[in-house]
Amino acid sequence: LKTVSRIADLPADRKGVVGFVPTMGAFHEGHLSLMRTARAECDTVIVSLFVNPTQFGPNEDYAKYPRNEEADAAMAAGAGVDVLFVPTVEEMYPGNATTVRVEGVTSRWEGAHRPTHFDGVTTVVCKLLNIVRPDVAFFGLKDFQQCAVVQTMVKDLNMPVRIRLCETLRESSGLAMSSRNQYLSANERETAPELYRGLRRTAESLRACAPCDAAGVDEQLTRCVENLTDSGFRVDYLALVDCHTLEPLDRLVDEARMIVAAKLGSVRLIDNVAV
Ligand code: PAF
Repeated sequence: LKTVSRIADLPADRKGVVGFVPTMGAFHEGHLSLMRTARAECDTVIVSLFVNPTQFGPNEDYAKYPRNEEADAAMAAGAGVDVLFVPTVEEMYPGNATTVRVEGVTSRWEGAHRPTHFDGVTTVVCKLLNIVRPDVAFFGLKDFQQCAVVQTMVKDLNMPVRIRLCETLRESSGLAMSSRNQYLSANERETAPELYRGLRRTAESLRACAPCDAAGVDEQLTRCVENLTDSGFRVDYLALVDCHTLEPLDRLVDEARMIVAAKLGSVRLIDNVAV
């Protein structure tokens, strides 16, 4: 593994198909599975580790976002990564008059709850793709809306990269792996898997009444929110959406996805399932 912090030091002589996994570090099995998939499918694997300040809101956890570069480098080496790119904030943003903004698919859900978040994500992902110039970039489906936003950006801007989406890794309880899980208290950890169980149960009920009507969909979603609230979650949103546009659906169609964001104490969890 070669660790590089300057753009100018990224290797120019890259062999074959170049795979890229953008990350914010604090690696867990979810990140490692993206790296292993990239390793299996590409000749050269480049991973970036950059806690991107522009995608955090003023009251979010940028300052206390988990950082452990040494452990991350060891894990990346173990996953067979060739290059770990760890730029500083100054290297990435020596001045920034340009923001990459995707409309439409960003307007609801995470975009509504975190108003500047996706501008930060698309700006940094666009910069990273221009810096690394990979053939394929790997993203985890846990951040479902982010996947749709990045795909929209790449398509709209004719960016020469293939976006490869990879399944969410889960703990044995079903809880989606996330760097933020380490903020959960012991009690919250017991409750947290209810989020995925609730999604699964609701997806099953929706399939049972497929294609459903608006009242049926609304009833199932409302019941799920009530159950999650009873378990101790504060639900930001729970929705049945079109998997490309993220627009809400009032009946079940082939490309439907159910997405959720909910707080448990001070920890905000997101998850999603195919329906
Ligand atoms: O999903 C993430 O970890 C981040 O949003 C990403 C894609 C690395 C951009 O900072």
